[in-house]
Amino acid sequence: MKHFYFSPLLLLLFTVTELYAQVDYQQDIQPIFNARCVSCHGGTSGVFLQNYDAVMNSVGNQYQQNIVIPEEPEESPLYDKLLPNPEFGNRMPTGGSLTDEQIALIYDWIKEGALEAPAVAVGSSEHPAEFTLKNNYPNPFNPSTNIRFTLPVTANWVVTVYNLNGAQLLQYSGQSAGGLNTVTVNMNDFASGIYIYTVEARTTGTTLERQSGKMLLVK
Ligand code: HEC
Repeated sequence: MKHFYFSPLLLLLFTVTELYAQVDYQQDIQPIFNARCVSCHGGTSGVFLQNYDAVMNSVGNQYQQNIVIPEEPEESPLYDKLLPNPEFGNRMPTGGSLTDEQIALIYDWIKEGALEAPAVAVGSSEHPAEFTLKNNYPNPFNPSTNIRFTLPVTANWVVTVYNLNGAQLLQYSGQSAGGLNTVTVNMNDFASGIYIYTVEARTTGTTLERQSGKMLLVK
């Protein structure tokens, strides 16, 4: 049985990325389409990806619906086509999938309402009111997944992965600014199965908050 495992090499397998909580279409999404999609999608299969209006007005020939349904990534053909087994046709883009990080960005952009410009209203998700654990992505995964959580302010956090017997397998910690944070966990050294993870956040020496989630490694 595997026991607590912590080595400098393993640390290299973790990357911590801080993202703006609110995805900016022009800055984050259109460049992905420009680099990977527009060479074909100036109309292929009903899909136009050259600019925001074109994307929002595209109706795919196969799905027979708008490719983006704001706030509903799971229902959006645009998102479905980026995953390994889309409902229709081949995974996009043909010739090599996007990175997990890019797919997560597109997911978040749709989830946040598929806006052209990030909202600048008070209480925008760049300064979420509370500590929230989001679903890890992808899930099921092999061998790595992104554990995602929002922090209201700069805080210290600890991500811990356990097996179902409660044995601690991996741990990583750091300090991040408020907003959405992503910790990529690589479980290449572990067997297929369900794992539990917890994220603890300690905000400026005051409260300690802890939330947990389940994830499925399938090799
Ligand atoms: C090399 C050309 C090519 C590239 C690059 C490409 N696509 Fe496609 N795309 C196609 C073709 C051909 C189809 C129709 C056949 C299929 O789905 O396999 C399609 C279908 C789609 C559909 C389904 C629309 C429908 O309902 O018919 C979506 C959504 C889509 N692509 C999005 C994308 C996105 C997003 C990218 C970039 C990340 C991308 N594609 C890159 C050629 C391409």
